[in-house]
Amino acid sequence: MIENNSDLKYVLDSVGKTALWICALRSVSTAYYCLNYDGAADNLESNNQDFENRAIAYLKEKKDLFIPNDPRIASIVYPELKVFDPYSFYFISNLDTKEFIMEFYEQYFEEIYKLYCERQSKVGTIHPRSFSKEELKQIQIQKFKDNFHPIYSWVDLWTTHMIYGISFRTYLIDQMFMNAYQQGIKQFVILGSGMDTRPLRMPLDSQCKVFELDFPSVLSFKQRALEPAIKEIKPASDCKINFCPCDLSDGNWIETIRSQGFDSERSTLWIAEGLLFYLDQSTITKLGNIVNNNSGAKSKFIIHTFVEKSLDSPCFNYKKDDSLKIDGNICKKYLDFTIDIDNREFLSNNGFSSNIEEHREIGQSLISVYSIGTKL
Ligand SMILES: C[S@@+](CC[C@H](N)C(=O)[O-])C[C@H]1O[C@@H](n2cnc3c(N)ncnc32)[C@H](O)[C@@H]1O
Repeated sequence: MIENNSDLKYVLDSVGKTALWICALRSVSTAYYCLNYDGAADNLESNNQDFENRAIAYLKEKKDLFIPNDPRIASIVYPELKVFDPYSFYFISNLDTKEFIMEFYEQYFEEIYKLYCERQSKVGTIHPRSFSKEELKQIQIQKFKDNFHPIYSWVDLWTTHMIYGISFRTYLIDQMFMNAYQQGIKQFVILGSGMDTRPLRMPLDSQCKVFELDFPSVLSFKQRALEPAIKEIKPASDCKINFCPCDLSDGNWIETIRSQGFDSERSTLWIAEGLLFYLDQSTITKLGNIVNNNSGAKSKFIIHTFVEKSLDSPCFNYKKDDSLKIDGNICKKYLDFTIDIDNREFLSNNGFSSNIEEHREIGQSLISVYSIGTKL
């Protein structure tokens, strides 16, 4: 439980809450991975075996706290997409995030119930019998109260389809990240880093420097939550992480990272995962320019966008133009799906190869596209 929660309140009231949500989904895949872990056979190529062994042993020892003993998890994750983020549990294991999920649940209960009924009629009964609205609400609320990790009740009802997307995304970017490192990149800039823990869980050497950029409150919550976590689960990485509080919608962030030792001449891996659709067009353009002007030879840029917009899920029922004052910065509270980004064009306009590697999720209502370009 995290005590001084004022920064978390900011996080929960802003776009920062999406970072918690994504990390909660990652924790579901991680729980599955830990529960099914059978030692050497399950070695993650991009990860560190020793770190994994220690972390899994630790999580198993504390499994009542960290890993819900819920067989349904097995039915909602994809074993071939191995995701292992033991730190994700620490971000969602506190009462405030529980409250956030409850509030979200209350707010969207009507839509959730609609989805539940549709699912019942499509695939037959998932539950032993159909529940009335009131019964269902009661059951879910009870689950929230009983479970230390309310996310499982939440996921269970309506975000199961997101588990695949987040597992795919984490797995893929883990691979891209490690490939870049193996090709000699030692400087990493994570734009809108949220609760991303790659710099801790990937086996980077002590020559590596990572710059994590996000709103001040997000990074302050993250650092507090990580303090006990890294004592309990020693990171796989020896790199230096520089937390750089900023608002990416102004151009000053480049000065912030320079003041912390960022070197524009070096090869850098830039990551914009789960970020661009929260920014407006002029911020995206500015961001592309800054990256272009501050990338040494052989730098790489990973970007992630959405292509389909059949937003039938309540989580995407966001209103545009609703912004919020936070830490003196205006941040967009909601996703802006009016912005179309062509990954290829964006990368080549900003000095990266148009011969990019591109991956798409399949079978989702909202399809993510992941691209990585190399600086020309
Ligand atoms: C969906 S989360 C993704 C977090 C992380 N990249 C991941 O994939 O797990 C989006 C993150 O972008 C951050 N963000 C959005 N707009 C931002 C801005 N203008 N400046 C700094 N961070 C921003 C949010 O605070 C949040 O942490």
